[in-house]
Amino acid sequence: MISINRLFRKKPIAQLLLETQGEASLKKTLGALDLTMLGIGAIIGTGIFVLTGVAAAQHAGPGLVLSFIISGIACAFAALVYAEFSSCVPVAGSAYTFSYVSLGEFMAWIIGWDLMLEYLLAASTVAIGWSGYFQMLLNGFGIYLPVWASGALGTAPGALLNVPAVVIALLITTLLSLGVKQAARFNNAIVFIKLAVILLFIVVAFRYVKPENWTPFLPFGFKGVMGGAAIVFFAYIGFDAVSTAAEEVIDPKRDLPRGIIASLIVCTILYIIVSLILTGVVPYKLLDVAAPVAFALHYIHQDWAAGIISVGAMGGITTVLLVMLYGQTRVFFAMSRDGLLPKVFSNVHPKYKTPFLSTWLTGITVAIIAGITPINTVAELVNIGTLSAFVFVSIGVIVLRKTQPDLPRSFRVPWVPLVPILAAVFCLTLMVFLPLITWIRFLVWLAIGLIIYFGYGMSHSVLGKSMKK
Ligand code: ALA
Repeated sequence: MISINRLFRKKPIAQLLLETQGEASLKKTLGALDLTMLGIGAIIGTGIFVLTGVAAAQHAGPGLVLSFIISGIACAFAALVYAEFSSCVPVAGSAYTFSYVSLGEFMAWIIGWDLMLEYLLAASTVAIGWSGYFQMLLNGFGIYLPVWASGALGTAPGALLNVPAVVIALLITTLLSLGVKQAARFNNAIVFIKLAVILLFIVVAFRYVKPENWTPFLPFGFKGVMGGAAIVFFAYIGFDAVSTAAEEVIDPKRDLPRGIIASLIVCTILYIIVSLILTGVVPYKLLDVAAPVAFALHYIHQDWAAGIISVGAMGGITTVLLVMLYGQTRVFFAMSRDGLLPKVFSNVHPKYKTPFLSTWLTGITVAIIAGITPINTVAELVNIGTLSAFVFVSIGVIVLRKTQPDLPRSFRVPWVPLVPILAAVFCLTLMVFLPLITWIRFLVWLAIGLIIYFGYGMSHSVLGKSMKK
């Protein structure tokens, strides 16, 4: 018989802090501004540069801006919740670690399993997005890939494998496995380029907005807006990555919440402006393309700007890929260190000092998925996995307030339990608007996770073993 207590065994926060001190501890160098940059580096990518097209053409129409606002509100609530968690549990790791101390091992496992869906598949989605801009750029020089190599089966007649997506995923994996993860951290230069190309788009395209393109504003009704919101949610994913840097922050309790919230605000404002301009420049029906932002500039015959933006977008998307792949290896690492996954996932390469094998396992999986799957399919799965993790984390903050009321928290979510409940409700609502097939895939994923937990994790748990002693 499985004892219920085993499922709810919790890691003491003090133990967590000790664990991180015991490891070669990381240098504390980051402040609020660095964190904001880190956040923007992880957030702006395929979501705004690519998925806006599908979301506008197939779901929201010009009402896309409302989709961005609704998704942004959901993330704002979730960000407040993340900020409280990260200000009282300032150690590396993210929702998985938070939930291990508040909700117990079983929920932590489920959340960790959801996070895999987030990072692993987000990396694939981002690689597919990169491929769109890469091909757009090649086309600008009159170079065209053979049709079979241009996209996954089913995305275009004759398409078989998204070769550029596979190649970029493997390239980044090579870098990561050789230990250039610092590049993901010190990405300020790329963040500037990313912001610059978005501003360039705004400045160049602004004058070509034709208000008649905004009517009808809601061609697919409010349901379309919500469907769009459930997709463009992807564009916000990454603010939670800020909390993974906790151990390197000089004053984490003050600066983590600031970094998370500031990066989210910057991105939300940019997304609102870009989506208004995009749908104002191009009739929404034409936006269903692999590189909609560059396409919009071609549409208004600003080919020079389209070229610059394609290069900037590729650079910007690459950092997101780096962060996502890195995040995945960290989740593997944390779960394996806790004994919930086999030790092979936390083995560190003697020379490169990286989790070499798990990085390659991750990278190859990401490359295969990126090569053979249409972008919407993966993006929707990423969203359902991330949204469900947010729901659990929101519940976690309420639980932690009840079970550990005296824990010092430099940042406190206002109006608990109202705000965490709103976060959970918004996220659940977005989940409801994802297609049935996504739900089925998600449930299958969860079922596999349960089998692994009950078949392996529960009995190998380091915490479980230490409690038996
Ligand atoms: N938010 C990230 C992106 O849009 C994942 O690429």
